Amino acid sequence: MVGVGHYAPAAILTNEDLEKVLDTSDEWITSRTGMKRRHVSAPNEATSDLALAAARHALESASLRADEIDCFIVSTVTPDYPFPATACIVASKLGAQNKAAFDIEIACSGFIYGLTVAASLIRSGVYKRVMLIGAETLTKIVNKKDRATAILFGDGAGAVILESSQEDSFLSSELGSDGSRPEILRVQAGGSRYALDPLRYDMGEQFIYMEGREVFKFAVTKMIDATETALSKANLTHSDLDFLIPHQANKRIIDAAAKYLDMPSEKVLINIHEYGNTSAASIPIALSEAVRSKKIKAGDIIVFVGFGGGLSWGAVTWRWAA
Ligand code: ACO
Repeated sequence: MVGVGHYAPAAILTNEDLEKVLDTSDEWITSRTGMKRRHVSAPNEATSDLALAAARHALESASLRADEIDCFIVSTVTPDYPFPATACIVASKLGAQNKAAFDIEIACSGFIYGLTVAASLIRSGVYKRVMLIGAETLTKIVNKKDRATAILFGDGAGAVILESSQEDSFLSSELGSDGSRPEILRVQAGGSRYALDPLRYDMGEQFIYMEGREVFKFAVTKMIDATETALSKANLTHSDLDFLIPHQANKRIIDAAAKYLDMPSEKVLINIHEYGNTSAASIPIALSEAVRSKKIKAGDIIVFVGFGGGLSWGAVTWRWAA
C-alpha cells in the first residue's frame, strides 16, 4: 500500500445524546459494545462525499494524482444510488475520467473482499495502481427509534492505494459466505424481492434489521477461523503477527477473538469507541489512523479480518512494505 487515508463527518453522536432519545444508557452501550461516539453525515452528505475526502487524503499521502490510478473500487452497502456505482462518481469527482470503477456490496466484509480483488488485479498484471475505498453512511439506513440498532452504527470512509512492486505484500486471503439465513441481518425492502411500497415503508423495512445475538455468535467463530486459515495459507502462525486489524462491530467480539488467538491488546487495533460500526469503512479507518501515528512499521505482518451481512466473512494477511 503506497497511500492510506480516512475521513469521518464532523457531527458527533454520543451515548449521552442517545440516552436522551432512546430507552438506553451510556453504561449499557459501553459495556455491551465498547462504543462511546459515532460520526454522523449531514443530510446533504452522501457516501461518495465521504469516499472522496478519504480518497484525497490517500492520494496526498502517496503523492499521487488521481489520474495515475488505474482502477477505483468502493466497498459499500450505502451507495449514493442503487445504481450507478458510487465508485464511478468518486473517480469522476477526483478528475480520473475514463478509468475503471466499480462497487463491491458485501456489507461489513467489504474491505476484506475488496482488498482481495484489488490485490489480485495488481498481482495478475491487469492494473498497476488500484484505489480501494470502504465508505458508508449507515446512519441513513438505521431506524432511529430502534435502540437495538440505532446505537451501533456510524458514518465514515477509509481509502488505500495499492501499487505493483517487486515484493508482494498480499500474503493470503480467506473469504467465505453463508446466504442460507439472510433474514438475520438485512434491509428487507427496496430491492427486487420486495419493493419499498408505502406499507413496507410504514413498517420500517427500509432500515437495517439485525438479530444481534445470532450475529454475535457467528462473528466470534468466523473471526477466529478466518484469521487462522489466512495465517496458515501464508505459512505463518499467531506468533508471527504484529497487528490484528478487525472489523469494529463490537468490542466484546474483538476481545473474544483476540483472546482465543492469544493476541495481546497492544497488537489489536480498536477505535470502536470513536466511530461505532462503520461497516466496510471500519478496517481502513483503523489502518489509516495506525499508519499516520507511525504504529505500523515496514515489514510488519498484519491480518485484516471482518464479517457481516451475507452472512459473509474474510481475512487477509498482509506484509506492510512502506
Ligand atoms: N439499550 C438498552 N437495552 C438494550 C439495548 C439498548 N440500546 N438494545 C437491546 N437492549 C436490551 C434487549 O431488549 C434485551 O432485553 P431483554 O433481556 O429484556 O430482552 C437485552 O438488552 C439484551 O439484548 P441482546 O440483544 O441479547 O444484547 P447483546 O448482549 O447480544 O448485545 C448487540 C446486543 C450489541 C447488538 C450484540 O448482540 C452485537 O454486537 N451483535 C453483533 C452485531 C454485529 O456484529 N453486527 C455486524 C454486522 S452489521 C452489517 O453487516 C451492516
